[in-house]
Amino acid sequence: MKAILLAGGQGSRLRPLTITTPKPIVPIFDRPFLRYQIELLKQVPEIDEIILSLNYQPRRIEEVFGDGTDLGVSIRYVVEPQPLGTGGAIKFAAGDYPSGPIVVFNGDVLTSVDLPAVIALHRSRKAKATIVLTPVDNRSAYGLVECDEEQSVKAFLEKPTAEQLVQSKCDTINAGIYVIEGETLDRIPADTVYSIERGYFPSLVAQKETFVAYTYRGYWIDIGTREKYQQVHHDIMTGRFSAPPFEGLAGQAVVSPDARIEPNVTIEGPCFIDAGVVIKSGARIGAHSVIGAHCHIGEDAVVAGAILWPHTWVDRGAQLGPLVAGRHCQFGRYVEVGGHALLGDKSIITDYSRL
Ligand code: GDD
Ligand code: MG
Repeated sequence: MKAILLAGGQGSRLRPLTITTPKPIVPIFDRPFLRYQIELLKQVPEIDEIILSLNYQPRRIEEVFGDGTDLGVSIRYVVEPQPLGTGGAIKFAAGDYPSGPIVVFNGDVLTSVDLPAVIALHRSRKAKATIVLTPVDNRSAYGLVECDEEQSVKAFLEKPTAEQLVQSKCDTINAGIYVIEGETLDRIPADTVYSIERGYFPSLVAQKETFVAYTYRGYWIDIGTREKYQQVHHDIMTGRFSAPPFEGLAGQAVVSPDARIEPNVTIEGPCFIDAGVVIKSGARIGAHSVIGAHCHIGEDAVVAGAILWPHTWVDRGAQLGPLVAGRHCQFGRYVEVGGHALLGDKSIITDYSRL
């Protein structure tokens, strides 16, 4: 069985971080995001090939995962000549005349859904397609899916209007995880921009195909915005979602043995401090901070909930609030950055600046 990970979007809502790091490999603590999805796919031994469907900065992603051997999986990369949309990308990645079930994942969702159970439901219902649904607070940002009592899908409305939301009774949305039969891809035109949400799913409903929903009420998040990107870190640190590097360590300070922490440093859990980090005397690392590999935190600096990607330099006396900073940033002496700033790679904040 093949799995297709849709990982070709530009990640525009996470700019400037995604200008140099495509969304599928933005770091979550010390690992690229897609690694969590690949680990989830390993729950299904039948999946013998993971196809990464890419078009934005594909080489960067290939460099990280290679052929998958290090993770114990087989990975193949398919790069569209131009973005074909979610449906066009699946068709392009699946190749000619695919048959049997294919697992499809939006490349920006983090979840612990029971994938074998989703596949078992798909098979027991002899479905043409099965879709995972999950509850969210703000349904308008997703695909709204209406079902009957048998959990058969009766309507699919991508990014519903206020009026459509009022008429809908369900609290769940499309979680971006599907099992689809390869032969149903014949309704997607080749080499054409085509949305699985606006084209393929509504066509299954219109043609009364067996289209089934699996509702999942456990952990699920789409990391596509700054708020959600920070939320994922928070959820893993606090144990709301049990995942490495905090498995069994929720609420604690997880500090690499290869970090160099001088005496008289205050570290408040939960937080994460990666290998090669140097923290100078008098500094304070507050709760929910993430200090990427090889960062330097100067004397008396305060990091209060910031996420710093690797190789960032925080000079003495700087005070950082809950910001996110890309790689190789420099915060000068005594700078103060409050609030939820989002800083691209190599940003330089000069001494004594206040943002
Ligand atoms: N290869 C490829 N080509 N991938 C693409 C393309 C493309 O042209 N366009 C988008 N993708 C990938 C993105 O990288 C992402 O992983 C996934 O497809 C979904 O695209 P998003 O841009 O993140 O869509 P969304 O979050 O607004 O909405 C989708 O996900 C929601 C769940 O998070 C829809 O599927 C919604 O119905 C769903 O509720
Ligand atoms: Mg998304």
